[in-house]
Amino acid sequence: MVNIAVLGYGTVGSGVVEVLNVNGDSINKRCGHEIQVKYVLDLRDFPGDPIQDKIVHNYETIVNDPEVGIIVEVMGGVEPAYTFVKEAILKGKSVCTSNKELVAKHGAELLKLSKQMNVNFLFEASVGGGIPIIRPLNQSLTADEIEEITGILNGTTNYILTKMSNEGSDFNSVLKEAQAMGYAERNPQADIEGYDACRKIAILSSLAFGMQVDFEDIYTEGITKITEADIKYAKAMGASIKLLGSSKKEQDHVYAMVAPMLIKPSHPLFSVNDVFNGIFVRGNVIGDVMFYGSGAGKLPTASAVVADVVDAAKHIGTNIMTLWSSKKLELSDIKRATHRFFVRVAANDEKTKEQIAMEFGQVDVIAVPDMKEEYAFITMPMSEETYQQKAEKFKNIVSMIRVNF
Ligand code: HSE
Repeated sequence: MVNIAVLGYGTVGSGVVEVLNVNGDSINKRCGHEIQVKYVLDLRDFPGDPIQDKIVHNYETIVNDPEVGIIVEVMGGVEPAYTFVKEAILKGKSVCTSNKELVAKHGAELLKLSKQMNVNFLFEASVGGGIPIIRPLNQSLTADEIEEITGILNGTTNYILTKMSNEGSDFNSVLKEAQAMGYAERNPQADIEGYDACRKIAILSSLAFGMQVDFEDIYTEGITKITEADIKYAKAMGASIKLLGSSKKEQDHVYAMVAPMLIKPSHPLFSVNDVFNGIFVRGNVIGDVMFYGSGAGKLPTASAVVADVVDAAKHIGTNIMTLWSSKKLELSDIKRATHRFFVRVAANDEKTKEQIAMEFGQVDVIAVPDMKEEYAFITMPMSEETYQQKAEKFKNIVSMIRVNF
């Protein structure tokens, strides 16, 4: 028997208990051990819920119990999660977590400590909810040099963009729906401002390149500036707007960014809608691979956490090697990254068009019948720096979205 303790009985924590209840028999067979929830740590009580018998309010009870072999940390946030996880590892317990803030900030250190203590620190659920992506990067794609990872990494924003585009729904009401369904972060700014996707692409990049990619270094834009008008233009182009997290290796440089992008049906992430996430990986020998599935929500995320518990139970006494050193990877300045840019200008007179032609050279004009008061166009490929220099000369740009076609 392997005793586990679940830290946090919120959306994911209660999902972990539910998955173990529903699929316990087959999970135990696959694991080769019976997995038993011994404690659940939460500040609250749950009178009437069978979990109440296992609720404890004091972490010391858990961490000092030698019968607990695996800790499931699903509280979220850096503290007290970091202190609890570190203490657990130092006491010889493996940890499985869904906490991307914790992994992005302290992943390298906690992996090193786990190796020293011959236990495991597993975090499949920290990126892409239920989608297997951490284990594939760490095990199945080790023959490759990773050249690119681009993903729709946040379910909440993908849900909002899909509903805005398909149903013309209003941003705030869709956000409330996403919160009610347990997709959004406690502070949904983390979703809509792109911070959540930023931590996830930092984790994937650190694993792919084997070095610490600091999320603070990643240029990040969310979806708060995307309007109904932008969506109308996207439709007119046969494109859709997706919040993409991307890191690319070009020669010795790695660029990483999170921003809304216009993509066309030929892009592998075009059909990734609603709360689904998709992660596209390009390796130098395998070529292109895609991972797709539920990127948020109680049971999909719990599925990934419980699979980590099974892996940890199967590897008691063995550390699963994960290459992610604490040596910092210096990202290239985003100013050098090159794209096309979709730009809307709040004027449609000949003088403005001439100025745009003078500054940007050849552009593809995008016309939408009921947007006669403005001029919209896509530039030829240019660096972020060149675009900024040109754009500064126009005081009436109402919107700019990067283009991936
Ligand atoms: N708020 C996150 C999302 C949850 O919407 O993707 C999963 O990490």
